[in-house]
Amino acid sequence: MQLADRDTEATREALFRLVSGYRMTQALYVTAKLGIADRLVGGPKDADTLAREVGVHPDRLFRVLRSLVSHGVLSLDGQQRFGLTPVGEYLRTEVPGSLHAFAIFSGEEPYRAFGEILHTVRTGETAFEHAYGMGHFEYLAQHPEASAVFQRTMAGSIGALGNPLEGFEFHDRHTLVDVGGGHGALLAAVLRDHRELRGILFDVPSAVREAPVFLESSGVRDRCEIRTGSAFEVVPSGGDVYVMSRVLHDWPDEKALVLLRNCRKAVPDGGVLLLREAILAEGSVPPARAQLDLIMMAMTGGRERTEREWGALLGRAGFALQRTWTNRTGPDLLEAIPDRAGSDP
Ligand SMILES: C[S@@+](CC[C@H](N)C(=O)[O-])C[C@H]1O[C@@H](n2cnc3c(N)ncnc32)[C@H](O)[C@@H]1O
Repeated sequence: MQLADRDTEATREALFRLVSGYRMTQALYVTAKLGIADRLVGGPKDADTLAREVGVHPDRLFRVLRSLVSHGVLSLDGQQRFGLTPVGEYLRTEVPGSLHAFAIFSGEEPYRAFGEILHTVRTGETAFEHAYGMGHFEYLAQHPEASAVFQRTMAGSIGALGNPLEGFEFHDRHTLVDVGGGHGALLAAVLRDHRELRGILFDVPSAVREAPVFLESSGVRDRCEIRTGSAFEVVPSGGDVYVMSRVLHDWPDEKALVLLRNCRKAVPDGGVLLLREAILAEGSVPPARAQLDLIMMAMTGGRERTEREWGALLGRAGFALQRTWTNRTGPDLLEAIPDRAGSDP
């Protein structure tokens, strides 16, 4: 086939950039892992100074940082000193919406797991399990540092943009139970907006290790109870609003059903279950959502779902999907109530 000349260069470049993505994932990983952005807060520094401060090879560090200059993450002045651009600011640790933990996380377990995607496509097996010999959450339970980075990644994408449950009216409700709530970032953001609410944070023990400090620093510790256990066994009772944010997409349907049925047992009459998840369009989907689905496929064996699929799953677990909406904080929201007709066996 003869490609039209005027298209060739730009279209080939577009594909070239996609294929090369792995390079910048690792350049950003190195920069985040070494904590470079935090060291540039006071002003620009050259690579020799930075290398001395973090104990690495000056020339190699220079070349990695220069690659980030070409992508607008760092600046380079006439004295060969690197500085932070507005993009690079998000590599700092203590900024709202920080992507520092995400950059580290992306360069570690997902990077290795994505190297096994061909195996997943050939066999249907989860890439992470093929690479690590165990499930992702089992791995996190055994690796506290990886678990902390994962939970910081999750927490980093909640709260910076406001109340993640914006659009839900709490009215006379008293207690919000966050199932699989990690550090408690969602609870903290909601409870800050609703002084009358109390919260129950529920997750596996390894996930909530930093939660007490996080909730304390968010000013809501006195209104939050932390409980640990597996939602595959039981979901705590005592709430009138339950939320699972980005939990069900980690699991294939049969496992997600177990979680939903345990929620069904816990949600009282008149109670509500909120899901904070992407709702996929029926046809093609935006890049961020398509990639999220790939992450689930590679890391946990889960999947993103369409509204029809969410409705069917909720129905099988004894919930009726009432409404869906989107707010500016990211994933979509789904509101479900116990269905008197019950669930299928
Ligand atoms: C993708 S993270 C989402 C965290 C948080 N809800 C958010 O939106 O940022 C999935 C969460 O499910 C939790 N989880 C995994 N297995 C669980 C289990 N058996 N019981 C309760 N939570 C579990 C993980 O520890 C993790 O905090």
